[in-house]
Amino acid sequence: MAVKNIITLIEDGPLQVEGEFRVYDTIGQLVVRDGKALLCRCGASKTKPLCDGSHAEAGFRDCSKVDKSRDEKLESHTTLIISCRPNGMLVAKGPMTIIGADGQSKAMRNKAALCRCGESRSKPFCDVTHKKIGFVDDALIIGKADAPE
Ligand code: FES
Repeated sequence: MAVKNIITLIEDGPLQVEGEFRVYDTIGQLVVRDGKALLCRCGASKTKPLCDGSHAEAGFRDCSKVDKSRDEKLESHTTLIISCRPNGMLVAKGPMTIIGADGQSKAMRNKAALCRCGESRSKPFCDVTHKKIGFVDDALIIGKADAPE
């Protein structure tokens, strides 16, 4: 049976990914895979790309909807690959359902560029604001998955 990959934008918090997935850091190392993981989307975590709860202290706010108008027919393969771009967005490739931070809106995508600097005006998607604000991913990665690909 096909695994369903779901990305849920937690209101005022991280991005929750569930299903069959791999998350790679900016140098291509596997950070976490499969099951469930919380990824930073406020830009403040010290364990990027993982959430460390810093969104609360940073005062991150987002309860936006996702735009359904660009829904795609989901591809049949199941693995979702999420890669961190250096000082930029998360690029997600593979079939996924994205649930908006409003808790109700949904979008189906096979590819998405998701904001992780916290400042996009098109959340959850990247609008390249990370360049304007000089977003820097300088966090040490902890909690790497031990199973190499
Ligand atoms: S990562 Fe936030 S606008 Fe690109």
